[in-house]
Amino acid sequence: MKGTFGLVLGVIACIPSALAALSNVGCSTKGVFDPFRFCQLGDIQLGFGLDGWQNDTRRMHLAAQQVNAQGFDFCIAVGDLTNDRFDYEIQAFQDTFPEFKTKVHLLPGNHDINNLATLKQFKVDYNVSDHSAFSHNGYRFILLDSVTLMSNLTEFAPYTRAEWGWFQDELESAAENGEEIVLAHHHLPFEFTEDEPDSYWTFPNRIRGKYLNLVKQYGVHHILVGHRHETKNIYASDNSFTIYVVAGTARFFDDNGFGINYFDVSSCDSATDVSQEYVHLEGAGLMKRSEGLPNGCPDIFAH
Ligand SMILES: *[C@@H]1O[C@H](CO)[C@@H](O)[C@H](O)[C@H]1NC(C)=O
Ligand SMILES: *[C@@H]1O[C@H](CO)[C@@H](O)[C@H](O)[C@H]1NC(C)=O
Ligand SMILES: *[C@@H]1O[C@H](CO)[C@@H](O)[C@H](O)[C@H]1NC(C)=O
Repeated sequence: MKGTFGLVLGVIACIPSALAALSNVGCSTKGVFDPFRFCQLGDIQLGFGLDGWQNDTRRMHLAAQQVNAQGFDFCIAVGDLTNDRFDYEIQAFQDTFPEFKTKVHLLPGNHDINNLATLKQFKVDYNVSDHSAFSHNGYRFILLDSVTLMSNLTEFAPYTRAEWGWFQDELESAAENGEEIVLAHHHLPFEFTEDEPDSYWTFPNRIRGKYLNLVKQYGVHHILVGHRHETKNIYASDNSFTIYVVAGTARFFDDNGFGINYFDVSSCDSATDVSQEYVHLEGAGLMKRSEGLPNGCPDIFAH
C-alpha cells in the first residue's frame, strides 16, 4: 500500500514538470502550434501631421478602434510616439493609449530619444524600457532601441555597449530555446541594398554589417521598422529576410496612405508561415500625401 502511494505521488509529481518542460522548448519541438496574430503600428508621431496634432491624435484613436476590433494577440509600435515631446503631445498620447485594449509594445524613435536625458524621460513618460523582449507561442520578439544601438554619441556609450550585449544574449537564448526570432526597431537597417552608403534613414555601415551578420547567423526572417514614413517591404539580397516598413498615422510620403500591418503566424516555420497584409486606417477620411521628405529631425550622431 505504501509503495503504491509513493509511486502514484511520483507520477503526479512528474506531470507538471514534464508539461513545463514541453512548453519551454521553443517552437518546432512543441506538440501543437498555437497560431497567433499581431500588428505593426508605424510612427504615431503626434504633432507631425499636416493637419495638426489633434488630428494625429484622432488617427491614433482610430488605430485603437481598428486594432481592438481585430483581436490581435499584441501589437508593436515602431517608435516616434510624438514629434517634439511637447507636454501636450505626451499628454495626448498618454490619454489615448489606454483606448488600446490589445497589448501594444512601445518602441522609441529618434523623435523620442536623442540624448541621455530623453532616454531616461522615455521610460518615465511611457513606463516602459527602451528595449525589451518577450516570447509568444514559440516565437521570440526582440524590440531594440535603434537610436542607442546605432548612435556613437559618447553619452550613450555604456547604453550602446550594454544593448549590443543584451541583443546577442537574447538571440542566443532564443536559439537555445528553439524559438523563431522576430526583430522590431525604429530605423531601417538599409533601404535598397545591404551595402548602400549611409543615409538619414538607415543603420550606418559602421554597425550595419555587424547587425546583418547576426540576423543571418540566427535565421531571422522578419524585421519591423518605421521612420521612413512610407509603406513598403524591403528584401534581403538572398531573400532570407523581409524588412516591413509602415508609415503610420501622422504623415506619409508615398501613395499608401495611413495604415497598419497585420501579421498571421500559422506555424513554427517563420520563413514560410508568417504572412503580412497592409490595411488602411479605417475612418481616416481624406488622406493627404506629404510632399518632399521629412526634415528637421533630431541628430543622434557625434560629429
Ligand atoms: C482634422 O480633420 C477633420 C476631419 O477630417 C477636418 O475636418 C479638419 O479640418 C482637420 N483639421 C485640420 C487643422 O486640418
Ligand atoms: C507601469 O508598468 C508596470 C509594469 O508593467 C505596471 O505594473 C504599472 O501599473 C505601470 N504604471 C502605470 C502608471 O501605468
Ligand atoms: C559618428 O557616426 C556618424 C554616422 O555613422 C559618422 O558620420 C561620424 O563621423 C561619427 N563620429 C564620430 C566622432 O565617430
